[in-house]
Amino acid sequence: MSKANAHVVWHPTTVTKADRQRQNGHKSCILWFTGLSGAGKSTLANAVDQQLHERGLKSYVLDGDNIRHGLNRGLGFSTADRKENIRRIAEVAKLFVDAGVIVLTAFISPFREDRELARGLVEPDEFVEIYVKCPLEECERRDPKGLYRKARSGEIAEFTGITSPYEEPLSPELIVESGTQSVEESVQIVLRYLEERGIIP
Ligand code: PPS
Repeated sequence: MSKANAHVVWHPTTVTKADRQRQNGHKSCILWFTGLSGAGKSTLANAVDQQLHERGLKSYVLDGDNIRHGLNRGLGFSTADRKENIRRIAEVAKLFVDAGVIVLTAFISPFREDRELARGLVEPDEFVEIYVKCPLEECERRDPKGLYRKARSGEIAEFTGITSPYEEPLSPELIVESGTQSVEESVQIVLRYLEERGIIP
């Protein structure tokens, strides 16, 4: 704890996570989507979120571009800024788990160390790492925001996969091959996993 926080004491909540989960009728967890820009993280996270919502379950998506407009405005794409970006998001995701919600995070989160930090903030069965795997060539072919083209021309520096590293997950709970599988197939893989693990009914 930093010196500034030396006299700050953790205050347990009266309504517990278990109380909230019981009321919601399902467990809470982090679905941590990771992958290259353009791999389809946001698309998949939103499609899973929609299915959960339609089933009456409590879920919410934290998305890279949106969070960088608000909470993490001011952070760029240097290694230090990406680490701080993910650290803050991981802490927010933990709060959602405490609130009894299934939180879906869609960030490149290129560094293993940072994803492991996020994993370590919650219970082992509350973190589901989902590698949205798509070959760099395919992401670059799609180039939905024209960013790869700008990265290649030098207009954008430190671009993931081109001039900044992406460390593939070594043992994610799930891998979805977004270059070959449809969004619907990938959604079913995630939902089936959640059912089998008893996270959702
Ligand atoms: S990170 O690495 O986890 O901190 O990145 P994240 O917060 O997910 O933000 C990624 C989105 O920012 C856009 N963008 C860049 N991505 C990678 N490298 C560089 N230099 C960069 N500059 C801007 C890009 O649109 C990413 O969105 P997605 O949805 O991943 O395509």
